[in-house]
Amino acid sequence: GRVGVLYGGTSAEREVSLMSGKGVYEALRSRGVDAHLFDTGERSLTELVQSGFDRVFIALHGRYGEDGTVQGLLELMGVPYTGSGTMASSLAMNKIMTKRIWLNAGLPTPGYAVVQSEEELDEALQHVGMPLIVKPPHEGSTLGITKVTEEGELLAAYRLAARFDAEVLLETFVDGRELTVPVLGKGREVRALPAIEIIAPGGNYDYEHKYLSNDTRYVCPAEVGKDLTVQLIHLAEQAYIELGCEGWGRADFMLDKHGQPWLLEMNTSPGMTSHSLVPMGAAAAGMDYADLCLAILDTASC
Ligand code: DAL
Ligand code: MG
Repeated sequence: GRVGVLYGGTSAEREVSLMSGKGVYEALRSRGVDAHLFDTGERSLTELVQSGFDRVFIALHGRYGEDGTVQGLLELMGVPYTGSGTMASSLAMNKIMTKRIWLNAGLPTPGYAVVQSEEELDEALQHVGMPLIVKPPHEGSTLGITKVTEEGELLAAYRLAARFDAEVLLETFVDGRELTVPVLGKGREVRALPAIEIIAPGGNYDYEHKYLSNDTRYVCPAEVGKDLTVQLIHLAEQAYIELGCEGWGRADFMLDKHGQPWLLEMNTSPGMTSHSLVPMGAAAAGMDYADLCLAILDTASC
């Protein structure tokens, strides 16, 4: 049947999604799938309802795409879609809710405070300590995120994040190596793919180094030794299961100087661009980009 590849959208990650969607669309077509691109930013969702797709591949990132809203619409329409359902999507889109769930499950995630006004910054700073990371809880691709190493930088960092979200997350900075682990499947069939280490110039894996430049190095499978490899896989799978994720996702970690991994966030609709990480993990497991797209499409449900 007809497969809609939803891409674009209206979030701050629209440009990333345009790349992800095109990649997925071309790969599905190359394998004989009757795929059609649908830009949810340019066309109305009424049109989506009228398009008569039998299944949908969600290649949207960020708000109104990765956050459970489109998932809810598709659920109402009875159209099977890839990835997590409404609940896991909206939980994972919120880095604060994600932390609460992981902490409740005993999973390691850095200490944090939630700030809703400038007046709350001092107390939050005392709680979290320096250096820290200021994040808008609902964004992806490092948008609105600042590392703060001196007290004087905190206010500007807060104001930047507050442009994206009313609540702002202050998180203890973990100094170390950056790792990510893709996860596929659901329920008892959850399976992590090989971990990837990201080595960005100056340790700065920001929007530029994610999508625009070619000077970030990726090592997959990550060279972290056998025990840590097992631990990362276990943590990624637990992190995914605790949030109730389905289909596919990607758990982002920091590995501190003592070799302790810390969970930062779960992406429920990860990037599928030519620079993206899930395709690297899949390749290391013997699955090429098109195989990966087909495997994800196969899990579409509603
Ligand atoms: N938020 C971007 C798309 C990612 O996680 O890959
Ligand atoms: Mg993210």
